[in-house]
Amino acid sequence: MERGPFGVAVLALAAACTAPAADQPRTDGQWAAARTAMVEEQLRGRGIRSPRVLAAMARVPRHVFVPEEARADAYADYPLPIGHDQTISQPYIVAFMTEALEVQRGHRVLEIGTGSGYQAAILAELAGEVYTIEIVAPLAERATKTLAGLGYRNVHVRAGNGYLGWPEHAPYDRIMVTAAPDEVPQALVTQLKLDGLMAIPVGTASQELRVMQKTHAGMITLKTLPVRFVPMTGKPAGSW
Ligand SMILES: C[S@@+](CC[C@H](N)C(=O)[O-])C[C@H]1O[C@@H](n2cnc3c(N)ncnc32)[C@H](O)[C@@H]1O
Repeated sequence: MERGPFGVAVLALAAACTAPAADQPRTDGQWAAARTAMVEEQLRGRGIRSPRVLAAMARVPRHVFVPEEARADAYADYPLPIGHDQTISQPYIVAFMTEALEVQRGHRVLEIGTGSGYQAAILAELAGEVYTIEIVAPLAERATKTLAGLGYRNVHVRAGNGYLGWPEHAPYDRIMVTAAPDEVPQALVTQLKLDGLMAIPVGTASQELRVMQKTHAGMITLKTLPVRFVPMTGKPAGSW
């Protein structure tokens, strides 16, 4: 049986998809208590240290990004289905990737794979502007509404293919990719600032999360972890 921080998540997803809805918190106070427990047990308890990341994870109402049928599990320690065969990532993975990017207030951040919009909201708490691209148009539409409903004005959602990045707003201080391509897309490397950081899961059957930095000598990998993300779709023909 697969173990480690990500293995736990993979096993739990199967349970999440079949389990009947547990008792769902009903009040803002109950949701806030669930969020605090998530931060303490799943994040601080597993080594997430950045006070800014912990505060953002404690602030953003994850349950608002989760479809009604899975909402009771919104703060559980696993990814959840969001429709269209896609998922909202496990809270620990969101925190780990965000912490690895060392996002600062003035940063311009590109996210590939908007999904529910939750990761974009976490980034928006920390950055200047967040640009996020989602290939499934109805998900992009729903995320736009959710983010606007919560008052995020510094997140810009586009329905489109993230393989090509978003050149109009490049270069980016940080890039986060939340679906797995089989190679790092060249357009994303081009659109990353020199010294900028990128977090990206790479691979097909077996994947690794790479935290990379753009240097004069090319992209260098700073750390890796085994992960399992949904595949990045829409690879342009003949791109490499
Ligand atoms: C694991 S989900 C992302 C979770 C999301 N960050 C969140 O907070 O809910 C991966 C998302 O990447 C999207 N995706 C896959 N390939 C893509 C591509 N080429 N361009 C943009 N989005 C893509 C999927 O449709 C899916 O919504």
